[in-house]
Amino acid sequence: MPEGITIRHLFKKKKDGQKITMVSTYDYISAKLCDEVGIDCVLVGDSLGMVFQGHDSTLPVSLDEMIYHTKAVKRGIKRAFLIVDMPFMSYQVSLEEAIRNCGRVMKETGANAVKLEGGEELADLVYKLVNIGVPVVGHLGFTPQSVHALGGYRVVGKKEEEQERVKRSFKALEDAGAFMIVLESMPSSLAREITQASKSITIGIGAGPYCDGQVLVFHDLVGLVEDIKPRFVKRYVEGAKIFRDALRRYKEEVEKGIFPSEEESYG
Ligand code: KIV
Repeated sequence: MPEGITIRHLFKKKKDGQKITMVSTYDYISAKLCDEVGIDCVLVGDSLGMVFQGHDSTLPVSLDEMIYHTKAVKRGIKRAFLIVDMPFMSYQVSLEEAIRNCGRVMKETGANAVKLEGGEELADLVYKLVNIGVPVVGHLGFTPQSVHALGGYRVVGKKEEEQERVKRSFKALEDAGAFMIVLESMPSSLAREITQASKSITIGIGAGPYCDGQVLVFHDLVGLVEDIKPRFVKRYVEGAKIFRDALRRYKEEVEKGIFPSEEESYG
């Protein structure tokens, strides 16, 4: 029997108007912290390609890497609902390959759901996955795996034509059975309109306050990412400054012979 948060808990929160919380992260310790404070969903996002591996996009991330990180995250979680990003080109080649790869992720990691970026073109795949028992999360608006096609990092849905495409895609994914859809970098008015008409759960990132829940990347919200700060990121602590200060003090104490003292030594 699955313990902890299930899809049914998440839908109850939506129905009761309670916001759903999600954090994207990639390792055991940070996942454990999220779980301990009661974050509802932990996403192993392919943003790990940029945040953890230092690439300039999410495109290089492999399926094996996603599985490796998800296994580590899973060990840190007791109750949160665990979602895994399917990386670029692990679900686009053919239905058969996509189903095999999503199945592999579910079997090997113990995750509760997979997340796929894209719209109407994924409807057949989403329908098939949902009907073989794989819960699917969609991802619309700015979709980082399409960064080159979209012409860089930007807000999607300012123009009416783009808004219509996003709304059509939302409907197609929802009808195909996606129980949750991430809305990234879009005007809050568009996210509000979609959320108000939605049966599935909407999770926003750079999509304003009207979604059913919100997601941020762990390293962004604790202030460890300093080189870029999109408008939608809120740093709850200046982590990089705190860590840098600790490292400086450690370096200085070792150099001056202050650390280790008797207290940190064995008798
Ligand atoms: O890769 C990721 O971390 C994500 C979230 C930011 C939604 O897709």
